[in-house]
Amino acid sequence: MVSFVSFVSLALILASTASAFPAYGSLAGLTREELDAALPSLEFKLPAPTPGALNYTGIKLIHDGAHPWVAPGPDDMRGPCPGLNTLANHGYIPHNGIVSPAQIIAGIQECYNMENKFASFITYAAHLVDGNIVTDLLSIGATNPKTGTPPPAPAIAGGLDTHKVYEGDASLTRADAYWGDNHSFNQTLFDELLSFMDKYGGGRYTWDVIHEYRYQRIVDSMENNPTFSFIMPRYFTAYAEATFPINFFVDGRVTQNRSLSKEDALTFFKDNRFPDDWYRVGQSLSSEGMAGIVDAHPVRPGANTNGVNTYEPDPTSADLSPEQFCDVYINFVNGDVKRLYPNPTGVLLKALNMNLQMFYDSVAEQCPGLQQFPYGKPE
Ligand code: HEM
Ligand SMILES: *[C@@H]1O[C@H](CO)[C@@H](O)[C@H](O)[C@H]1NC(C)=O
Ligand SMILES: *[C@@H]1O[C@H](CO)[C@@H](O)[C@H](O)[C@H]1NC(C)=O
Ligand SMILES: *[C@@H]1O[C@H](CO)[C@@H](O)[C@H](O)[C@H]1NC(C)=O
Ligand SMILES: *[C@@H]1O[C@H](CO)[C@@H](O)[C@H](O)[C@H]1NC(C)=O
Repeated sequence: MVSFVSFVSLALILASTASAFPAYGSLAGLTREELDAALPSLEFKLPAPTPGALNYTGIKLIHDGAHPWVAPGPDDMRGPCPGLNTLANHGYIPHNGIVSPAQIIAGIQECYNMENKFASFITYAAHLVDGNIVTDLLSIGATNPKTGTPPPAPAIAGGLDTHKVYEGDASLTRADAYWGDNHSFNQTLFDELLSFMDKYGGGRYTWDVIHEYRYQRIVDSMENNPTFSFIMPRYFTAYAEATFPINFFVDGRVTQNRSLSKEDALTFFKDNRFPDDWYRVGQSLSSEGMAGIVDAHPVRPGANTNGVNTYEPDPTSADLSPEQFCDVYINFVNGDVKRLYPNPTGVLLKALNMNLQMFYDSVAEQCPGLQQFPYGKPE
């Protein structure tokens, strides 16, 4: 009887996974056979146009009466990014965590005043590797970390939790994928961050704190994670994300010596909630302060090559010097995107070319004439 019941439920699971590829499931890295199985059930949607820059870039009350915090339910997607989880919890992007790139860009501009081109750059980069480019949907994670509910359909639908391209090692408050959980808030790590606030920041998240803590997290992974990888694009996101708490989480009414209290850090990182009566910053920002973090303790892009404590620089990865910025774009397109989509055809090729165009538009001013066409120029 028991085995009959489990046989029936297994058959049901197999039937449901076979019939419906989730509309937000990423197609990146799928084999030809997997693509052939998934694509017929997906409806092509033209990518929503990239939102323009904000017209009003001053401070603004964001935690207002129209946007209360609502805890994620068991079927809502949440992932490793406290910035985006917070937007979903307050309804600035869909509460279920399944969003279009345009919705993300609009949300991070409105709520955090993130600069338009920078917001577009990180959003299309994430969508190209972790989103479903045919349906124009990206999942900001795979599970609700509060309940641990598994994703409703195939596990490939990891969204931003997908390890190795966007999500990566040496996070501030999330453990490395090597330890099993690559996306949930980790209290042990947060406690370590608090101790750095005491030691270097008079009890607050300051630039001095992040200069030391960013480096300490890298050293921790060098010494303890045999699979530690720290090359582009993770090399960039690891440093950029370390600036976000000061640039974006500090209340906009504070304009001098901006730093984050322990309480507000916990509110964002753990609860994914805006502090009460919270205002966004009063100017458009991107990753200001990033060079200072690198300069405090320079680490070359690289990886542990043969177990712990075998970190070697990887000269094929760009670094964060301004003269290598366009290499970051070029290598991402010709390396990561091409590797994950080696031979796209039909609607997939069309969607890729459209998203690659929107991605290039975000860097066109900095990288004129350097647009890459890994699949040839679309006519
Ligand atoms: C398109 C927009 C964004 C995407 C796709 C994105 C994605 C991600 C991902 C995948 C991570 C995990 C990296 C890792 O730990 O391995 C992350 C971390 C982080 N994100 Fe975002 N993010 C976005 C925008 C933002 C914004 C606007 C903020 C702040 C307002 C933010 C704040 C952070 C912070 C502070 C972390 C570090 C978490 C930690 O290491 O503990 N992100 N983000
Ligand atoms: C800025 O204003 C223009 C003209 O009114 C409008 O079309 C555009 O959508 C606005 N941009 C944003 C981000 O709201
Ligand atoms: C939290 O992070 C620490 C240090 O990386 C790790 O050893 C531990 O397993 C993590 N805890 C959980 C619950 O994932
Ligand atoms: C990262 O987390 C996702 C969601 O739980 C999981 O599917 C994936 O296997 C994890 N990746 C690694 C390498 O642990
Ligand atoms: C900002 O910090 C500097 C250097 O620590 C200090 O001299 C200055 O008084 C601070 N300004 C404000 C407004 O707190």
